[in-house]
Amino acid sequence: MDYKSQKMTHGMPTGISLFSGGGIGDLAMRAAGIQLLVANELLEDRSQVVAENFPEAQVVSGDIAEKKQEIIDRTRKLLQGSALDVVFATPPCQGMSKNGRGKLLNGVRKGVKPTLDPRNQLVLHAVEIINALKPELVVFENVPEMENTLITARDGSIRGMLDVVRDELGPDYAGRWEVVEFADYGVPQRRQRLITVFGRSQSVRDAVCRGHSLLPARTHAQSPSLFQRPWITVDEALQGVRPLDARDPTTALSSIPFHVVPVLDERKYFWVSNTPPGKGAFDNQCVNPACRFQANPTHGSQHNSLGINRSRTDTPIHCVRCGALLPRPSVEQHGQPRLMAGFTSAYKRMRGDMPASALTRNLSYACSDQKLHPRENRVLSLFEAFRLHTVSDFDFTWRRADGKKLSDKTIREIIGESIPPRGLQKIFAHLCSLYLTTVAVKAPREGGRQRLPRKAPLVA
Ligand SMILES: C[S@@+](CC[C@H](N)C(=O)[O-])C[C@H]1O[C@@H](n2cnc3c(N)ncnc32)[C@H](O)[C@@H]1O
Repeated sequence: MDYKSQKMTHGMPTGISLFSGGGIGDLAMRAAGIQLLVANELLEDRSQVVAENFPEAQVVSGDIAEKKQEIIDRTRKLLQGSALDVVFATPPCQGMSKNGRGKLLNGVRKGVKPTLDPRNQLVLHAVEIINALKPELVVFENVPEMENTLITARDGSIRGMLDVVRDELGPDYAGRWEVVEFADYGVPQRRQRLITVFGRSQSVRDAVCRGHSLLPARTHAQSPSLFQRPWITVDEALQGVRPLDARDPTTALSSIPFHVVPVLDERKYFWVSNTPPGKGAFDNQCVNPACRFQANPTHGSQHNSLGINRSRTDTPIHCVRCGALLPRPSVEQHGQPRLMAGFTSAYKRMRGDMPASALTRNLSYACSDQKLHPRENRVLSLFEAFRLHTVSDFDFTWRRADGKKLSDKTIREIIGESIPPRGLQKIFAHLCSLYLTTVAVKAPREGGRQRLPRKAPLVA
């Protein structure tokens, strides 16, 4: 059955994805009943992962600036005259502003030209595609800093990115943006994102006019109420996972795919294995059996003379009572151990009774922020990261369509740059049911998608 007849028969909404990464966000779209027609991603290894997992879609690999006409043409061809329902766009966030927009704009008014990151201009290519295809709904997902980011508009003025987007989309669209904590949608991970929705329908217009949220009600909360369940914790999400230990290769490995962790050298294992639940290795206390003094000064940070917050450098690494080396991160200098530079969150255990902190590309590095398992002596395996990121709820294969090897580094990057699809699925399902005029198919049960035929055409 060709696509048009499929849409006619099932009333299946259609969507395209821009800046697709490895297609993690696109999983949410599909699980909400939206058929992905075209996906665009710059990097070949990521495009290959999308192609492997979305055989129903055409994957356009390459720079959106060069590929935008092709994206438009391919989408139109697949639509065969039908209207497009959704454009999902997640432009890269690395260049987005950490400074307040007010402060930056004030500077612009006073004639101070801010340094603008060219990556932030990429959103304008997405807008061009949106204006050519005129979808019913547009969804942007990005870091909360997107709200404060300035770009150069086509007329040369410097303005807030989302204000420029709104102006470029014109009166056909109404929209609003909102910061979402994804743990509030039942994801065992804290991840804040700015979700921006623009729509053409009267219902979107009415909601925006009344200042109503376009997003679904939060299902979970840190302090639960009658209508919200408690946040899902790391311990709940990792229940039943086989224990591992980073002491040596035999204990750091399992027969479960991706359930393997890096072995820690003897020194690091000494620090990690003596770190109690909820604590960081920089605060470890004396382990000399004859002393076990537990009140050595702990690590912390202080403001230096320039007012910059720096971690302390005078934290002891020898027990102040017996002089034994403490199991705290240290390096050798001139044959003597000295405190390693690092914040208290390095070599720290994540809490088992809370959602995980946002998984980053550094999730396999013990020295990065709160990356240690709540109780076991190791970092998380990728298998566990898939659970905390909720990718394991969905039918997703960590493979490239061309059969080449997909590195763990690429997998970590794909996870670090995406948001947990279980939360995003709730958002898409809500938007489809309320704001699309096409009849949305019933969203499949989480993780219950039927397997589609393999091998999507990858358009280089
Ligand atoms: C925030 S990530 C997208 C995450 C993705 N939506 C997901 O769910 O995994 C942004 C993506 O934009 C891609 N990108 C950066 N510059 C691009 C460009 N010029 N054209 C197309 N894609 C680009 C990056 O490679 C990255 O994968």
